[in-house]
Amino acid sequence: MGKRIINFKLNGVDRDEYVMDNQTMVDFLRKQMHLTGTKRGCEEGECGACTILLDGRAVTSCMMLAVEADGHEIVTIEGVKQDGVLHPIQKEFIDKWALQCGFCTPGMIMSALSLLSENPHPTEEQIREGISGNLCRCTGYAKIVEAIDSAAKIMAKEVAK
Ligand code: FES
Ligand code: FES
Repeated sequence: MGKRIINFKLNGVDRDEYVMDNQTMVDFLRKQMHLTGTKRGCEEGECGACTILLDGRAVTSCMMLAVEADGHEIVTIEGVKQDGVLHPIQKEFIDKWALQCGFCTPGMIMSALSLLSENPHPTEEQIREGISGNLCRCTGYAKIVEAIDSAAKIMAKEVAK
């Protein structure tokens, strides 16, 4: 199987990395980049645990080849905190107790980021739709929806300042 160099931006940093032609993005991130915040669950695009941002849009990294990142921008959960400060979505997940085991949490947060960048004022129904590709076996979703709604309101206030 072939190997090639790709050039892409990972969590704000330009990178040139060797990747195998058949390597999935989730494996590349976890094994080669040692970014283990991106979780590997079903590996068939169903659970959302592996969700990352590709050019700002939520994608399941188990369904993407690493070579597809060439020329694009990738953000993982490790790149969400800025200058040591938690993103409002991360903070609200903690403050609203929106996680238990935490396995789904990175993917949920990446989907929430994608949703709020497209729709800063989502209804509850739109939040539920936005995370419909992310499965949580622990929380029952109510706290997750509450956390995203609260983060959206905090972010809207920050923009209005
Ligand atoms: S591991 Fe990618 S969607 Fe489940
Ligand atoms: S908090 Fe455990 S799977 Fe969501």
